[in-house]
This record gives sequence, structure tokens and C-alpha cells, in this order.
Amino acid sequence: MNPEQNSSAANVFGMIGLGTMGRSLLLNMADHGFAVAGYDKNAAQVAILEQEGQHAPVSVFSSLPEFVASLKSPRAIMMLVPAGPIVDSVIAEILPLLDKGDILIDGGNSHFTDTTRRDKELAAKGFHFFGMGISGGEEGARRGPSMMPGGDIEAYKVVKPILEAVAAKVNGEPCVTYIGPGAAGHFVKMVHNGIEYGLMQLIAETYEILRKGIRLENEAIYQVFKTWNEGRLQSFLLEITRDIFSYKESGADGYLVDRLLDVARSKGTGKWTSQVAMDLELPIPSIDAAVETRDLSKYKSLRVEAASVYGAEQPNGFTAVEQQQLLTQLEQAFYFSMVTTYAQGMHLLAKASVAFDYQLQLDQIAKIWRGGCIIRAAFLENIYNAYQQNPTLQHLLLDPQVAQLVQQAVPGMRTVVATAAMSGVAIPAYAASLSYFDNFRNATMPSNLIQAQRDYFGAHTYELIGKEGVFVHTNWVPDAID
Ligand code: 3PG
Repeated sequence: MNPEQNSSAANVFGMIGLGTMGRSLLLNMADHGFAVAGYDKNAAQVAILEQEGQHAPVSVFSSLPEFVASLKSPRAIMMLVPAGPIVDSVIAEILPLLDKGDILIDGGNSHFTDTTRRDKELAAKGFHFFGMGISGGEEGARRGPSMMPGGDIEAYKVVKPILEAVAAKVNGEPCVTYIGPGAAGHFVKMVHNGIEYGLMQLIAETYEILRKGIRLENEAIYQVFKTWNEGRLQSFLLEITRDIFSYKESGADGYLVDRLLDVARSKGTGKWTSQVAMDLELPIPSIDAAVETRDLSKYKSLRVEAASVYGAEQPNGFTAVEQQQLLTQLEQAFYFSMVTTYAQGMHLLAKASVAFDYQLQLDQIAKIWRGGCIIRAAFLENIYNAYQQNPTLQHLLLDPQVAQLVQQAVPGMRTVVATAAMSGVAIPAYAASLSYFDNFRNATMPSNLIQAQRDYFGAHTYELIGKEGVFVHTNWVPDAID
């Protein structure tokens, strides 16, 4: 269909995939006065949106050609379908119905290498494409998400007013900005999720210390998270954790959280973050620990068997004074580890920006993460300020204000890690955060010995202090002693 043929079309934005996220985002757009269209193969999803959008400027279609014909040129169409081959099949199905110049947006959690490929393929065919990370879950999509669009900047400019209208706002500013070329948007969303995994793991370890170390009941654990969330640790993830510790099902005994199986699932974005970080040789151990710990949780029957072999080491009971002290130190430890986790994520973004030429502006990324998204937290304001003041900041832990805050939290961090280790309470992300920090602040790591070993058994050569770039080999076998 050419642009003249659909000149009477009224809808300014189309959504393919009317699951919870797609529907919510579309209704959000309609709330802001935009005439929008939705399409889904699934009749049940179509029926839900027809019902929910009946008093809003929302047209719902179960025919793809009719959906496409209802959109103004250049058409702006977002796909919110499961990542993977389904995205490619939707593109293949819709492309014959589109005109050159139309805009396709992938709003799902696609792997950034798929987005790079699709960006090139569609550009070669004359279509605009951009991959956009969306964070905030169902509530965010409905009331204001944080959005990370990357790719074709001309296409972004067309939909910018709609995205800015529906995004979450912080100090009146929308939590959406053009991220960068190619797959920059999906890459940044992936790292967002990696940080999310790290923070969730730290909160889970805190729960473990609170229930098995300090031996608090759920009511008291609720109070800890509630208090933390009212201070410098304020964040969306602590807020929902607080609520989880007060939730009882009506008619059921006890708290729902206690009845959940301790096996953590995932959809892959955390793993992708760790994989890419390894490929880029950029350490993010707190995030890696989170991914690995979800994996270990899946070996439930092995863990049950191991528990019968080794027994669960339990700490000695603490006195009330010790408990109170550990709670104060735990707040410091969480702060320290949270900062370290964000710092690793930002470091990965900086490295990827150079490696993939994404031209990322880290201050702007921190800015749009302050609201709407799952990792929104009071500390994002500190990150935003750090990169605003110094756009070439090499590492968040080198920002003077952040360094001061981290220094103050170090004693509590050390006590918590040591106490947990002595008590047999597993704290992989806390421990990884501390070791990362201790190596990072160490001008002399023991890596000279690694080089010696490599050269000894493999003649891999080494550099000498003060002679970087000059590689030498030694025959390390000592002379025989008579
Ligand atoms: C999501 O994409 O829904 C979450 O941000 C991450 O999901 P996961 O924990 O299932 O991987």
C-alpha cells in the first residue's frame, strides 16, 4: 500500500502483540490522547483490549492488513512479542504490507546481536528499524516506563513525542532518550537487567542473613526493608521486597513467601550480560554471582542431598546488642555492594560503547533509569551527577563523592562478609562485591605470579615492570643442586 492510499488512516501508532506489556503501553498512549491500533493473532488478547480500551482512542484488529491500513504514514509499529525467532517471523509477515520509510520498533528483550542483524537487513530494504528496551513491568508500561531506544535516529524523531509523553517522569523530565546507533538500546536494556539480577541477589542474600544469621521473623524482616527504603537505599526493588514480607493470602496460614519453592528462574538477559562481559574482558563479578546463584538454586535435589551430607551450619545466636550492630553494618554492606554493582554495570556500558561504537552518554542513561524502570533507586541520582560532572569518568568508584560514600561503608561491609562466612551463610554477591573492590583498589595484584606460571609451563612470555610492551621468556627450571 502506498502512502496516498492510507491518507485517511487515523492511528499514529500500532502495536503487534497484545500481551500485558503491549496492551498496557497502548492504553498509556491512548490516555495521552494518541489514536492507536493494536493487533494480535490471539483472539483472547484482542477481546481483552477491546474491553479495556472501549472508552479510549484504541482500535483493535485481528487482521494484519486491516491493522496496517489503519496507520498513518510513515507508519510506526512496535512489536512486543517474545524475543527470538518470533520477532523474525512477525517482520517477515508484515514487511510485504509496509511502505519504504515505515518504522518498525522491537520493544522486546531481543539479544543485541539479533537487533544488529535486523537493523542492517531492514535498512537495506529501505525500512527504518530500532530496538528499544522497555523497563517497568506491567505497571510501568501502563503508568510510565523507562525506555531505551537505539538505532535509526530519524525514525526515533518521528515517535519521540509519543514516547516522551508516555514515559515515566522525574523532575518533569521523561525517562526516555535516544541511546545510540545500532543495537545500543537493547544492549543498554540488557545491562539494566544484569544490574537488576545483581541487586535482586543482594536483597536475597540480605534476607538469608536476616533469617538465618540474625534469626528475624518475617515481621521484623519487613521492618528492616521498610526502614532501608525510607533512607539512602530507597529503591523500587526494596519497596516490593518490603511488601512481599507482609503478604498473606486470605484464608491461608502464614506468609506466601515461605511457601514458594527456592528455585529461581530466568529469561536470559542476566546470562547474556555475563557472557558479553566475558567476551569484552570486562569484570562484573557481582552480576555473575547473581546469574550463577540462580543456576545453583535449580539443583534442588542435589542441594537437599548435600544438606544431609554436610548439614546446614548455623550461627551461634547473637545477643541483642550484636544483632543491632549487625543490622547497622548490614545497611552499610548493602549500600557498598549496591554501589559496586551499579559501578560494574556502568563500566560494562563504557567498554561496550567503545567496542561497538554505541556513543553512549552514561549520564543520560543514569538519568532515564531514575524513574519507571526496575532498577530505579535514589542512588541513580548520584550516578547521574557523577557522569554529569565528569562525562569522561573512567569508573564510578573513582568519582570523589561516590568514593567517600563507599569508604564510609567499608567497615560494615567487611564485618558482614566475615560474619556470614564464619556462620556458613552463603553470600556470593556480597563476597564478589568486596573482592572486586579489594582488587580494584589494589595497585599491585598478584597477577605477576600468573604471568610467571604461564611463561613457565607454556613459554607465553611476560612483561617487566617499567618495560611494558617488551615480552620476554625465561627458562624457569632451576639449576640442579648437587
Ligand atoms: C524481565 O525482563 O521481565 C525482567 O526484567 C527479567 O526477567 P527474568 O528475571 O525472568 O530474567
